[in-house]
Amino acid sequence: MATPHNEAKENAFAKTVLMPGDPLRAKFIAENFLENAVQVNGIRNMLAYTGTYKGKKVSVMGSGMGIPSIGIYSYELYAFYGVETIIRIGSCGAYQEDLNLYDVILAEGASTNSNWAHQYDLPGVFSAVADFNTLLKAYEAAKKLGIDPKVGSILSSDTFYNDTPDVWKKWAKMGILAVEMESYALYSIASSLGKKALCILTVSDSLCKKQETTAEERQNSFRTMMEIALETAE
Ligand code: HPA
Repeated sequence: MATPHNEAKENAFAKTVLMPGDPLRAKFIAENFLENAVQVNGIRNMLAYTGTYKGKKVSVMGSGMGIPSIGIYSYELYAFYGVETIIRIGSCGAYQEDLNLYDVILAEGASTNSNWAHQYDLPGVFSAVADFNTLLKAYEAAKKLGIDPKVGSILSSDTFYNDTPDVWKKWAKMGILAVEMESYALYSIASSLGKKALCILTVSDSLCKKQETTAEERQNSFRTMMEIALETAE
């Protein structure tokens, strides 16, 4: 079913869709990890592909940056394309001293400074959490790849540039591991529609300490996260 943002035909998507923020990363995954990948969306260059990984049908699509963008694309995948599981693969900024660049985080839960959940008209505060079985599968896949992922809570922020620069310390005090900008919406949408979601993140920068990075290291860490996600896909 085509939408204003997605021209893919009915059944064009697999049951599991991997979502990096950057559509060119979706293209990279399709070209380097999937067999027989076919492009299924190109509207606004939000590239989407479906192919196979180790014999299983998998799709990959960019989400764009921030809650409104992933909100649109993920809702349409779940509600109109029969997608059951979305695994976001993204980057995050570390809030804790003991996190290093390229560490892998499985976001068990997401807090937010966004008003996203207002639409559900709940008489309280909604806790956005990952699907437990998907998280467990990703945890086991990571271990098998020799990675020791951190599992915990992250912040989905509406702002990348915050006018109150030290506000992150309040979240850090609450045990929040890191900040990104999408998970809270993805988890909320999945819950509201009875679907599954998980966010796998790699640390790309730290709010606590200065760390140098090379392009090669960034590429390798992205590959690791992709492999965990592809192994986790149903
Ligand atoms: N803030 C928000 N989102 C991010 C960051 C950050 O510092 N790093 C990677 N994604």
